[in-house]
This record gives sequence, structure tokens and C-alpha cells, in this order.
Amino acid sequence: MRNIFLIGFMGSGKSTISAYMAKTYGMKMIELDEEIVHYEGMSIPEIFDCKGEAYFREMESKLLKEYATQENQIISCGGGVVLREQNIKVMKETGKVVLLTAEPETILNRVKDDDNRPLLRGNMNVAYIQELLDKRRMLYEEAADIVVKTDHKDVKDICKEILE
Ligand code: S3P
Repeated sequence: MRNIFLIGFMGSGKSTISAYMAKTYGMKMIELDEEIVHYEGMSIPEIFDCKGEAYFREMESKLLKEYATQENQIISCGGGVVLREQNIKVMKETGKVVLLTAEPETILNRVKDDDNRPLLRGNMNVAYIQELLDKRRMLYEEAADIVVKTDHKDVKDICKEILE
């Protein structure tokens, strides 16, 4: 089987879904952000602070490209992976792209206690999430092969939907 790439805004449930799918269907799970943290030896906020977002995006593209050469993986991507066209091309060429969506209120609820997301620092509110989501919406939708809504749904049902 080729790869499944999970994309979507921060807090759309990518990590939870990929962990469940990997365990249930015997796929290898790759959490791209974690790979970047491991590679750099720094947390995501530290990378943004010390090296800048552009550097982070370079690392994101580099590791995505490397992992995409392997198969049978469920790859959970950072919410900004769609910002670069080259990333979308890599994902489309090497697997299926699944977009997970959630309402801004749901997203806020899921991310509000986590300070590991530099883009939401000082902006932990529905209005800002909605604004950033609107800016990215087209990119997410154009990159996706399938779209799955995650609000008020069970992990099991979301995974079933993806596989179907
Ligand atoms: C980002 C999302 C984060 C992480 C980084 C940037 C984004 O990943 O890659 O903070 O631009 O949306 P998650 O979507 O896993 O939170």
C-alpha cells in the first residue's frame, strides 16, 4: 500500500487519528513534527524562535520528501504543510491525501492548553483560528483527495470513513 498523508489545521485530530490507524491497520506511523524535533534537537517553538519559520518550512519539506520514498506509512503532517506547492506534489505522487476538518470552536477546545504551537501564541481565540483557517482553506481543499469532518465524531468512525 502507498502512503496516507493526513493534513489539516492544528487541532484537527491528525495525531490521534494517525496513531489509531497505524495501530489498527498495521501501518508505520510518522509524525512529521516529531521527526523535525528529533532531527533538530529542539522543540517546535524553539525552532521558530531560534531559526525562524522559513527554516522550519525547509526542514518540513526535506523530511516529507525523505519519508515519502517509503511505503505503507501513515504520515501526520504539520498544519502548514500545504503552504508549499512542492509538498503537495510529493504527497500526491506517493499516496492519498486525507484532509481532516474541524470547526474553529472544536479546534480551540483541542489546542487551548498546549503551548507547543508558535503560530497560536497570544492568539488562542476562535476569531484568529477562523482567520488563519480561511486563509488556508483553499490550499487544504485543493490538496485533499478526501475530506473527513471530525467534529463530534469517534476516532474509530473517522478511521472507518477514511478507509472506506
Ligand atoms: C503549524 C502546525 C503545527 C507545526 C507548526 C506549524 C502550522 O503542527 O507544524 O507549529 O503552520 O499550522 P500541528 O498541525 O500538528 O499542530
